[in-house]
Amino acid sequence: MIEVTALESDAFVFFGATGDLAFRQIFPALQALIRRGHVDIPVIGVAKSAMDLDALRARAHDSLVQHGGVDPRAFAWLAAHLQYVNGDYHDRETFRQLRTALGGARRPLYYFAIPPDLFATVAEGLAGSDSHHGARVVVEKPFGRDLASAQALNRTLHRSFPESAIFRIDHYLGKEPVQNLVYFRFANSVLEPIWNRQYVASVQVTMAEEVGVEGRGRFYEEVGAIRDVVQNHLLEVVALLTMEAPVGRHPDALRDEKQRAFGAMRPLAATDVVRGQFRGYRNEAGVAPDSHVETFAAVRLFIDTPRWAGVPIYIRAGKRMPVTATEVRVEFKPPPQAVFDTASTREGDYVRFRLSPNVTISLGARVKLPGEAMVGEAVELLVRHMAGDEMTPYERLLGDAIRGDAMLFVREDAVEAAWRVVDPVLGNAAPVHEYEPKTWGPGEADQIVVANGGWHNP
Ligand code: BG6
Repeated sequence: MIEVTALESDAFVFFGATGDLAFRQIFPALQALIRRGHVDIPVIGVAKSAMDLDALRARAHDSLVQHGGVDPRAFAWLAAHLQYVNGDYHDRETFRQLRTALGGARRPLYYFAIPPDLFATVAEGLAGSDSHHGARVVVEKPFGRDLASAQALNRTLHRSFPESAIFRIDHYLGKEPVQNLVYFRFANSVLEPIWNRQYVASVQVTMAEEVGVEGRGRFYEEVGAIRDVVQNHLLEVVALLTMEAPVGRHPDALRDEKQRAFGAMRPLAATDVVRGQFRGYRNEAGVAPDSHVETFAAVRLFIDTPRWAGVPIYIRAGKRMPVTATEVRVEFKPPPQAVFDTASTREGDYVRFRLSPNVTISLGARVKLPGEAMVGEAVELLVRHMAGDEMTPYERLLGDAIRGDAMLFVREDAVEAAWRVVDPVLGNAAPVHEYEPKTWGPGEADQIVVANGGWHNP
């Protein structure tokens, strides 16, 4: 267990209560937390809409029907405890009503499930009604769209909340397999001695999605793959994979080490990046007919530390790929002497963490084939995690925020450091190449890993 000394929140308030994020993630996470007995505090939704409280309850019910199912007892609790403040975020009256709904609560948790351009308005509304003292605030990605805007957003939030009260969500950090990656690294002594430039030839991280932009064309036009998943999810995975062991059990122990890893990542150059766009993207609703936004990115990253100097970290993310899978693969250098057939093949000799859809950890190795010759074949020693009654990332992160455990949230310095890495290659720094749907992106992406046996597709 990680030590957490913070006090629990005594009310949960979500702005954007009638919006899409509340519908897809917040209601299901709340029900799950209630079912496990982890939430027993007032729940207050805030939004400007034509709905009344009954309509909001009905929407919560629909959300649960569509996202995981209704648990009658937990839903009855939610329906009975849900309150609704219907008002405009620019109107002081909204915040006065919220203050009344909060009653005697002294440590509310505010969830900003709203577009980032409203963060400042809501933060100032809370401060203006004196509702910010002792409170925490949860904010969603995207946290800015480049380094400068992330810094501006941090300054805005800090006008009303100290850094220790700001919980930036990256749902990848709430995923069980991502935490398992850290656990597996540091709970076993087998990896650490070889987890460095002496033994590791390269690292590959692939996040492939079969889906396209699924009606989110307008949103995607503003982001593209690098902002959408590389700056946050995949750099977080790389930081967890390459950081030093946390010193101590305080939530900031892990965040400090992650921060050092982010800080050592060399900012990308245009020559380190290949961008792609699947054929047909420009016909999606909300997408410009001449769009240059990337739906695929392949990146070569270096981490300038004694442990990782010179080890290329290849990152690849794309929509409309042949499969949906996220995987990390750490390739080892060949043994110092090629005694057997290892001179002619490098198959085997890696560790693979499959993060989704199924969770596996495997060790790729070579074993001898039966017979007189000393030749072998590549095999995998595999650990497969059978999913049980696991928490979803949002349930985990919401529960942690209510308890005041910030470990799995992104700190100000980390979010800025991650933007610093991708900032030089945002926009049209590198050309965008078209690729066919259901392929592994444009052929140009192969040039990035040419010296290391190419990409390994999950
Ligand atoms: C989101 C991105 O943050 O992560 C989406 O905006 C992406 O584009 C999603 O599909 C992937 O998350 P998961 O949990 O489905 O792997």
